[in-house]
Amino acid sequence: MSEYDVVVLGGGSGGYACALRAAQLGLRVALVEADKLGGTCLHRGCIPTKALLHAAEVVDITREAGRFGVRATLEGISMPEVAAYRDGVVARLHKGLQSLVSARSVDYVQGWGVLSSPRTVTVGDRVLTGGHIVLATGSQPRSLPGLEIGGRVVTSDEALRLQQVPERVIVLGGGVIGVEFASIYRSFGAEVTIIEALPRLVAAEDPAVSTALERAYRKRKIAVRTGARFASAEDRADEVVVRLEDGTELAADLLLVAVGRGPVTDGLGFAECGVAMERGYVITDEYGRTSVPGVYAVGDIVPGLQLAHRGFAHGIMVAEHIAGLDPAPVDETTIPRVTYCEPEIASVGLTEEQARERHTDVETVEYNLGGNGKSQILGTQGFVKLVRVASGPVVGVHLVGSRMSEQIGEAQLIVGWQAHPEDVVTHLHAHPTQNEALGEAHLALAGKPLHAHN
Ligand code: NAI
Repeated sequence: MSEYDVVVLGGGSGGYACALRAAQLGLRVALVEADKLGGTCLHRGCIPTKALLHAAEVVDITREAGRFGVRATLEGISMPEVAAYRDGVVARLHKGLQSLVSARSVDYVQGWGVLSSPRTVTVGDRVLTGGHIVLATGSQPRSLPGLEIGGRVVTSDEALRLQQVPERVIVLGGGVIGVEFASIYRSFGAEVTIIEALPRLVAAEDPAVSTALERAYRKRKIAVRTGARFASAEDRADEVVVRLEDGTELAADLLLVAVGRGPVTDGLGFAECGVAMERGYVITDEYGRTSVPGVYAVGDIVPGLQLAHRGFAHGIMVAEHIAGLDPAPVDETTIPRVTYCEPEIASVGLTEEQARERHTDVETVEYNLGGNGKSQILGTQGFVKLVRVASGPVVGVHLVGSRMSEQIGEAQLIVGWQAHPEDVVTHLHAHPTQNEALGEAHLALAGKPLHAHN
């Protein structure tokens, strides 16, 4: 008999969610983690970067206080103190998570684990046997061929540890990480240039979102070079020089490489144990089962959106499946996406383009935050864009504006529950809130706009 019902390899969002839920269901669980419980999200991703973004918002508010009639002077930014605030947030959450894991009697095993057979994970000289194994080893920053990380060339991992704000930053990659860090550095006073190979920023989002973000970044004096192909970078003693394929040379104090994240699966024994892989990712069915019976995979190593909340959902579903319950597969098409730059971007479901590819008749509406009282009070610009199948459900919601990430919950229920705008408008939206903008957009789509022109 196995020592454990489940051995989870990797203690990030997907892995720890799986371990906690499995333990809650009465299973004997081991959780193996090489670094720190909580993984990328807690230590190098979501939480520390959002703390920096909040500090950046405080800087912006202080700098712009005069707009609200408040006299304030920004004396400066102490990066060590910003780091202390950020690390305090992470430390409190880490402690809470550690206490949850021990309260649920999960055996936490610290060390580098390898899948040594379809039923065992080896950590040093310890062999953990499990009735089921869950692979949850996550992702790490990618670089480009010939682009060495080190010195003035960093990924988000190193960027988080910097103790001072560089004067000039080049951000390579205008995806989620690129635009978030560009936003932080700009608020902290750096001169920022984004280099993006595709024709627009955040290219996975609706084009209207990219246009709004590019406009907002121009206003913030962030230089955006889209359709720009990176050729090489040279880390000189006093600066880093980036060369583009068209011959342009740009110099900066720091080059942040944000060209995507790849799975952490190399050298972990997965392929050797017969687990089907594709370009380094683990292939699973909708219940997280790999090609090897009893071996599951969750989170960023499974092709799809690399988001912590997707990892949580995978982990919970897999734990329930192992426990013999009948969980619904995770709906990968209604996972909310939030980019915490300024202005924020939040979306769920299909872009207009994707909807038009799938449905013959599609209607859209864009409600400008200029008509939303609370957004005017905050002084933010942006919009709510809705995409619906004609006479049918809302299939996409796209939000832009300061703090609009907080509105994604309702949007997600609307898309997930396939609500029609006519159903949504029967529910009142409190005035004055930014949430009201979602209500107004649905009123417009239902043919009865209130604070908008017909
Ligand atoms: P990404 O895939 O979002 O963006 C990478 C960008 O780099 C793309 O736009 C790509 O066209 C560009 N690029 C690639 N090669 C290039 C080249 N040679 N020259 C110029 N541009 C080039 O990846 P990113 O931003 O690194 O994020 C990785 C993952 O982490 C994403 O899946 C993201 O969802 C996740 N993440 C999510 C966050 C959130 O939910 N708020 C925050 C941070 C990361």
